[in-house]
Amino acid sequence: MTNAVIDCILSRTAAKYYDPSASLSDDQIRELVRIGTTAPTSFHLQNWRFIAVRTPEAKARLSPIAWSQPPITEAAVTFIVVGQLADSSVVPERLAPVVEAGIMPAKLIPDWEIPARGLYQDYPQRQRDEAVRTATFGAAAMIYVARSWGLGSTPMIGFDDEAVHREFGLAEDEVPVLLLSVGAERSGNWPQKPRRPVAEVLELA
Ligand SMILES: Cc1cc2nc3c(=O)[nH]c(=O)nc-3n(C[C@H](O)[C@H](O)[C@H](O)COP(=O)(O)O)c2cc1C
Repeated sequence: MTNAVIDCILSRTAAKYYDPSASLSDDQIRELVRIGTTAPTSFHLQNWRFIAVRTPEAKARLSPIAWSQPPITEAAVTFIVVGQLADSSVVPERLAPVVEAGIMPAKLIPDWEIPARGLYQDYPQRQRDEAVRTATFGAAAMIYVARSWGLGSTPMIGFDDEAVHREFGLAEDEVPVLLLSVGAERSGNWPQKPRRPVAEVLELA
C-alpha cells in the first residue's frame, strides 16, 4: 500500500549537499515551523523553541561550534531545535486556547496539570527527557514537511551544546537538542540507506 505520505517518508534522506544559492523566505520558514508545531507534546506543553539560522552572519556564528558541517553554511536555514525543561506550571496557559476553541472544558485543566506536576516537578531527568522528546517530535514533523515541499533536511547532533547555548543566548531551562538544516539539495546526496530487518527490531507482544 502506498500514498503520498508514505512516499514522502520512504524517500527522505539526510542531505549533505545543498544548493548554496537557494534560500527560503521568512514566511516559508514560519510556515515550516507552524506546521511542524502541530506535532504532539506531552500534556500539550509545547516546550520547544526554534532559532532559524539563515543569514551569513548567523551561519558564521554557528558553523565553528558545529563541527563546520557543510549543511550549516550551504543549506538555506539551520534550525537550532530547542527543548525546554518540562514545567507543569505552564499547563493552564497552554490549555487556555484549547478551552477557548471549545475543545476542552475548563474544569479538566487540573486533571492535566496535577499529573504533570507529579510526573515532572521533582524529577529533573524526566524534565530533560521531555525537552528532548518534544524537540525531536517537532524536528521530525519539520523534516517531513520539508520533504513534502521537495526540500532536503539534515538532523545534526555534531555540535558543541554548551557553546551553542551560550552563543545563541538560550535560557537556563533550555536545551539545544539538535540542529536541523533545511533547503534545496544539490546532486551528490546518498539515497536512503537500508534499514535493519523488521524482524530484528519488532517484538510482537
Ligand atoms: C539525532 C541525529 C543526529 C545526527 N547527527 C548528524 C550529524 O551531526 N551530521 C550528519 O551529517 N548527519 C547526522 N545525522 C544523520 C544520520 O547520519 C542519518 O540520518 C543516518 O545515517 C540515516 O541516513 P538517512 O537519514 O539518509 O536514512 C543525524 C541523525 C540523527 C537522527
